[in-house]
Amino acid sequence: MTNLIADAEQELKTKREALNLRWYPRYHLAARAGWMNDPNGLVWFDGWYHAFYQHHPYSPEWGPMHWGHARSQDLVHWEHLPVAIAPEGPEDKDGCFSGSAVVDGDTLVLIYTGHKFHGDTDNEDNLYQVQCMATSRDGIHFERQGIVVDTPPGIHHFRDPKVWREGANWYMVVGARTGNTGQVRLYCSADLRQWVYGGILDEAETGMGFMWECPDFFNLGDKRVLMFSPQGMTAHRFKNRNLFQSGYLVGDWQPCQPFIRSGEFVEMDHGHDFYAPQSFLTPDGRRIVIGWLDMWESPLPEQQDGWAGMLSLPRELSLGVDNRLQMRPAKEVESLRQAWFPWPVSSLNNQQINVVENAVAMEVVLNWKSADSNAEQYGLSLGDGLRVYIDAQMQRLVLERHYPHHGLCGTRSVPVTLDRDLHLRLFIDSSSIEVFVNDGEACLSSRIYPDTERRELGLFAWSGYASLSDGGAWQLK
Ligand code: FRU
Repeated sequence: MTNLIADAEQELKTKREALNLRWYPRYHLAARAGWMNDPNGLVWFDGWYHAFYQHHPYSPEWGPMHWGHARSQDLVHWEHLPVAIAPEGPEDKDGCFSGSAVVDGDTLVLIYTGHKFHGDTDNEDNLYQVQCMATSRDGIHFERQGIVVDTPPGIHHFRDPKVWREGANWYMVVGARTGNTGQVRLYCSADLRQWVYGGILDEAETGMGFMWECPDFFNLGDKRVLMFSPQGMTAHRFKNRNLFQSGYLVGDWQPCQPFIRSGEFVEMDHGHDFYAPQSFLTPDGRRIVIGWLDMWESPLPEQQDGWAGMLSLPRELSLGVDNRLQMRPAKEVESLRQAWFPWPVSSLNNQQINVVENAVAMEVVLNWKSADSNAEQYGLSLGDGLRVYIDAQMQRLVLERHYPHHGLCGTRSVPVTLDRDLHLRLFIDSSSIEVFVNDGEACLSSRIYPDTERRELGLFAWSGYASLSDGGAWQLK
């Protein structure tokens, strides 16, 4: 273990003991203590799923990035491992930024961005981002291999390599910024060490952002998906409400051919908090995605408790008939279920009833018979700060959080069709909610901060009645 990693481990041990766990996730991955952002290096290696993540062990604020590390057999029960890499080489002295992992024979290979300033760190002209490599045989201890792709001339923002194998070659996409245009650059290699630049895979047109972070590029169905996190898209009505977006373009691609888009940029998740998603393949061929369940510059009240940031549930991706990405909780998530409590409610008439006294870790299922309902608003509430409801006049499913003392108030919503049943799966954890609509049609994820004494779940229907054909919850382990 290097000195910097040993220091980080010591620090995490001490800090962990002092955490206030009131909002610490019960079944999502978060750092042991300190700060977490993007998921990195998601991979299956030697019988384990590995999740790395952007991590600052020394405080619950963003700082010189390390790679935190955890592993799991089932994507839901995670075991923490020692910090994998720390910013200790000349190539990454100011941070080990986001990246990915691949398996090359018996070696686990991390490819990540070395973030460094040559001189004054307040001047972006001094910023250099290079793609670096670290390798491991045991999946726990890593050896640094230095730079594999240097900064292209004239570019400063050049980060978040995603590597994969296709045919006989390795490929890498990297997010970049030229002037005020976000782009994704493509590289190709036979051995993971020598990389040849393959041109700009895609770039922003007007309004599509000044920087494209965290690109990912994979086959899904008979299409190719370019998933990325653009910075600088402007909000318009219900779209692009968060500071930065994460979403995708669908198209077609073959090695050595251009990427031909067949649609517009679409956001992946419509809640307040979902960013920098990364995908990986399971051994049985499912494409799973995990995102950071937060948003840059949004208040993170758990910082006062000694930690910050968490990851989303693993979600299986598929492509709908309309070429839209669908996300469903990975089937492993069902292994968290304990007893099922059906709620003896089939209709509500201008009223609210409580169904659970203290909801901390729960999966809720609701099947609203929308065509047989005439209430103006009907849905679920958690304490006095969260409501997830159908607004029949707007024809939208709304997630509303109201935590004025934390500076977190406002709504996110998606359109819904009310002449058929509306099926919702809602995952509640200590400080998060993820809503899956109609088996993958849409998804809304947000951080929530209920008081410990106000975690009761209610069902309500106002100005009319609402019918429910199925409603209940699993307590999750
Ligand atoms: C995305 C991001 C990446 C970068 C990392 C730094 O959230 O800004 O582009 O590598 O976070 O922590």
